[in-house]
Amino acid sequence: MARNENIQRTYIMLKPDAYKRKLMGEIIGRIEKKGFKITAMKMMTLNDKVLKEHYSHIADQPFFPEIEDFMTSAPVVGMIVEGSDVITGMRRLMGPTHWTEAQPGTIRGDYSCIIGENLIHGSDSIDGAEEEIERFFGKNA
Ligand code: TYD
Ligand code: MG
Repeated sequence: MARNENIQRTYIMLKPDAYKRKLMGEIIGRIEKKGFKITAMKMMTLNDKVLKEHYSHIADQPFFPEIEDFMTSAPVVGMIVEGSDVITGMRRLMGPTHWTEAQPGTIRGDYSCIIGENLIHGSDSIDGAEEEIERFFGKNA
């Protein structure tokens, strides 16, 4: 292990478009090849209640009903991913929210061209990560 490592964990979720487009293996492979460690994984179908909690910061946006329909339209795969600076590292691997800004080489840049259907969620802070891990994997995860 390198010096100055800052081990963190993050909550990653493959969205329904990853399932429908059979891109789950490709995306999981990128996370593994990067060197991050997947320490928990489960497939589930989200309901509106958990989605409103998870996306409380956008729940009053006009596009939220569409996000809700999309996110409940097929299974998702939730993961706990660990590694040095993994919160920022995973967000770099994912690319920015909007596909128009996501560089080729990133997951969203390579595979997404619909706003909202951007394949993958990753926590954006340490507190956010812990809250999301508890939400989807329980207190003892
Ligand atoms: P957000 O948490 O801001 O983005 P990120 O997933 O990069 O952390 O928003 C959650 C999701 O809501 C985002 O992945 C896609 C959708 N969304 C839109 O469809 N349009 C928008 O303008 C925003 C901000 C988000
Ligand atoms: Mg977010």
